[in-house]
Amino acid sequence: MRTISSLGDLRGKRVLVRSDFNVPLKDGVITDDGRIRAALPTLKTLTDAGAKVVILAHLGRPKGKVDPAFSLAPVAKRLAELSGVKVTLATDVVGESAAATVAALGEGEIALLENVRYDARETSKVDEEREELARREYAKLGDAFVSDGFGVVHRKQASVYDIAKLLPSAAGLLVLKEIESLSKVTGDPERPYGVVLGGSKVSDKLGVIANLLKKADMLFIGGGMAFTFLAAQGYSVGKSLLESDQIDTVKGYIAEAAERGVDLVLPVDVVVAPEFSADAPATVVKVDAIPDDQMGLDIGPESQKLFADKLATAKTVAWNGPMGVFEFEAFSGGTRAVAEALSK
Ligand code: 3PG
Repeated sequence: MRTISSLGDLRGKRVLVRSDFNVPLKDGVITDDGRIRAALPTLKTLTDAGAKVVILAHLGRPKGKVDPAFSLAPVAKRLAELSGVKVTLATDVVGESAAATVAALGEGEIALLENVRYDARETSKVDEEREELARREYAKLGDAFVSDGFGVVHRKQASVYDIAKLLPSAAGLLVLKEIESLSKVTGDPERPYGVVLGGSKVSDKLGVIANLLKKADMLFIGGGMAFTFLAAQGYSVGKSLLESDQIDTVKGYIAEAAERGVDLVLPVDVVVAPEFSADAPATVVKVDAIPDDQMGLDIGPESQKLFADKLATAKTVAWNGPMGVFEFEAFSGGTRAVAEALSK
């Protein structure tokens, strides 16, 4: 894999960096800046080298329209605080502000363009539309490209995929670090080997699940994706997140886990609430008693203990994704329980 050093002397060069700044926000305030912190090593390497850094990033899914609710302004502010470097936010993605901001950049400074998903071409399924955005707009803002948005690196989008084909490109330090960690757990891990998967998007992780079923001894499923598994087992999941079109695939995984002797560990109880909000009244119910008008937002205390007890027997654990809506205190217990179990 090409690294930043392969790009040569970067002093005075404009380096486009794709970062993943898709951070959780509440009332315009960042509730977890982990992704911004994770981007710092690459950004520091580039600014220390005297590069003019131009960051491409998204926040949420504004669906090709300018929507201030998805502005990267809070990110620009936090990035400046954390990096100690001057960060200027362009008020558009590829318009006059972006061009002027990049033109005014000094060595070792950072420009952050507005949310790339304000431009519909960024996520277009039509190859020519994405290529055009990358070629006509992004490419003229940089002399080289660094791919460092690990959380988005699987997306076939203009600022991730198309731009990398147009400029001298390299992987950033975050991407390299994640690949190193993943290589350890997909090679020959010490057994028993447990994999904990959470987060909300089953469809994004299907390939990973299929692969891990061949490697793991225990597979724990929590977070929003657990409800598709529970539905595949015949439970009614109320208003919980559900990818109904994936139920058959998930049924196949459940059968394969049984065949291969993989211990597939699903929640036995969940914390439910009538709506997705920090102060919604939370109740614990068994998975066979999720009310129709409630949604599961975390794994329950019995599941926490079940997961923790089994994790205690593992010699290697890979963990991806939270067990619940950890940004809200009332639904953070499951994620915390897994973290504590691993820290022991
Ligand atoms: C994420 O938060 O999972 C990444 O930033 C990717 O976001 P996306 O699923 O909207 O592409």
